Amino acid sequence: MLSSLAFSLPLLLAGLQATAVGASPSVSAVGSKFFYENGTQFYVKGIAYQLTPSDPLIDTAQCKRDIARMSELGTNAIRVYHVDPHADHKGCMSALADAGIHLFVDLDTFNTQIEQTEPHWNQTQFDHFKEVLDEFQKFDNTAGVFVGNEVLTTANGSAAAPYVLAAARDIKAYRDQKGYREIPVGYSAADIADLRPMLQNYMACSKNASERLDFYSLNAYEWCGASSYTQSGYNILQKNATDYPIPIFFSETGCNTPSPRTFEDQAAIFGDNMSDTWSGSMVYEWIEETNDYGLISYGPSVDAATATASSIEDGFTRKGTPTPVLPDFNNLKSQWATLHPTGVALSAYKKSASSLAAIECPASTSGGWAIDPSSPLPTLGQTFKQGTDSTATGKNDKASKVTANGAPSASATKEGGAYAVTVSSPATERLLAGSLLLSSLLGVVAIWL
Ligand SMILES: *[C@@H]1O[C@H](CO)[C@@H](O)[C@H](O)[C@H]1NC(C)=O
Ligand SMILES: *[C@@H]1O[C@H](CO)[C@@H](O)[C@H](O)[C@H]1NC(C)=O
Ligand SMILES: *[C@@H]1O[C@H](CO)[C@@H](O)[C@H](O)[C@H]1NC(C)=O
Ligand SMILES: *[C@@H]1O[C@H](CO)[C@@H](O)[C@H](O)[C@H]1NC(C)=O
Ligand SMILES: *[C@@H]1O[C@H](CO)[C@@H](O)[C@H](O)[C@H]1NC(C)=O
Ligand SMILES: *[C@@H]1O[C@H](CO)[C@@H](O)[C@H](O)[C@H]1NC(C)=O
Repeated sequence: MLSSLAFSLPLLLAGLQATAVGASPSVSAVGSKFFYENGTQFYVKGIAYQLTPSDPLIDTAQCKRDIARMSELGTNAIRVYHVDPHADHKGCMSALADAGIHLFVDLDTFNTQIEQTEPHWNQTQFDHFKEVLDEFQKFDNTAGVFVGNEVLTTANGSAAAPYVLAAARDIKAYRDQKGYREIPVGYSAADIADLRPMLQNYMACSKNASERLDFYSLNAYEWCGASSYTQSGYNILQKNATDYPIPIFFSETGCNTPSPRTFEDQAAIFGDNMSDTWSGSMVYEWIEETNDYGLISYGPSVDAATATASSIEDGFTRKGTPTPVLPDFNNLKSQWATLHPTGVALSAYKKSASSLAAIECPASTSGGWAIDPSSPLPTLGQTFKQGTDSTATGKNDKASKVTANGAPSASATKEGGAYAVTVSSPATERLLAGSLLLSSLLGVVAIWL
């Protein structure tokens, strides 16, 4: 039986009655879309913003210098992977609000993230997640929070999915118990063909709204250079997301081989084929560093071994006057300048939002998706144990075929503990992108194994 998602509407309307304090209208999730308070649909034109491993939202002067360039680009959102919940974010958040820029922030950090190997979700992690929410719920321009980034990275990693969802369940309950605004709670997934669309559907399929995400997002580097809607595989992403019941967007995109980047995928994402389903994209990333994904730079790279200035990490200056990396910066600016989907007005959408059909939870399959859809989510404090965990079927004995995209890696940087670790060497990156293309075009098995 399909159930209705009508409940999100009253929540939003309740939210609308509260007068927002601050310069920026808040963003809410209704049905499968985001809306501003005035009922206009919100499409993310975002940038991944993490200058150093620590918190980039503390240095107000630096935020302001960067925001001026972000506005020039047409940015209305940033994503920040790591923050210090005890620091003062008022200066940066209010400068962002003044520029109409919304924040999507990851609640986890290096030592609290949910791991794919022996996944667990415990009180220590939850307490840290709460602290980040406590801090950022203060700001009307916080548009969403992530309970994880690329927790699942391999085809055989599905056992971690219930732990990610358990974190979302607990954070949503905490948010509501504290009477905070209904800040959407989501997850940022690695692009793993073998898990698609099971992971995506699992995260949104519960009949119980308390036990599903408020939005889902994908880090995808499938569209490289002069590709096309079908050649890139975006048509398949679209096919698998059609009728998805919660907002979905690209939380990282922007393949950097070949160079320069032309960001032609933006025209597809914001175009007619996808903009009724997808809520925009975040381009990876603001600062130029070893992995060569930067839109701006604070100066030429220096010898990491001899550099002593505190603003230099891993050979890259991490503050100062942002200088556009050209022509990439202008290419993105030109793309975004032409892309203005109007979407749907909330008033017109209300009715369809209230009758949106739920999606089926994916069945467990031998050697594939290993989650029993009828098993309860892990409780706080639970740790996955191979063979005994009630949420997993234990059928997953498939040797993993790597089909992830070689995302530049917030997740790899987390693992390495140093921010600027190159996730994959340019060569690996090309190999991964190439094999992805091959397998999507020709259906061949990944060739580098
Ligand atoms: C609603 O608010 C957004 C963000 O401030 C703005 O861009 C949009 O033009 C507004 N829509 C209307 C119909 O006023
Ligand atoms: C929870 O897990 C983290 C590692 O993710 C660990 O450092 C911490 O000690 C654990 N807390 C509890 C209460 O078990
Ligand atoms: C929905 O999920 C929440 C959180 O797990 C739980 O407390 C509640 O009892 C569930 N509601 C129903 C109707 O099952
Ligand atoms: C997802 O896309 C793949 C490839 O086109 C297709 O085989 C599969 O049936 C799709 N699944 C859903 C649920 O749309
Ligand atoms: C939309 O889809 C059609 C059919 O697959 C394709 O030819 C066209 O290029 C796509 N449009 C965009 C903007 O990607
Ligand atoms: C999952 O696959 C990876 C290789 O991608 C392998 O290293 C790991 O041992 C596998 N884990 C399980 C539980 O089979």
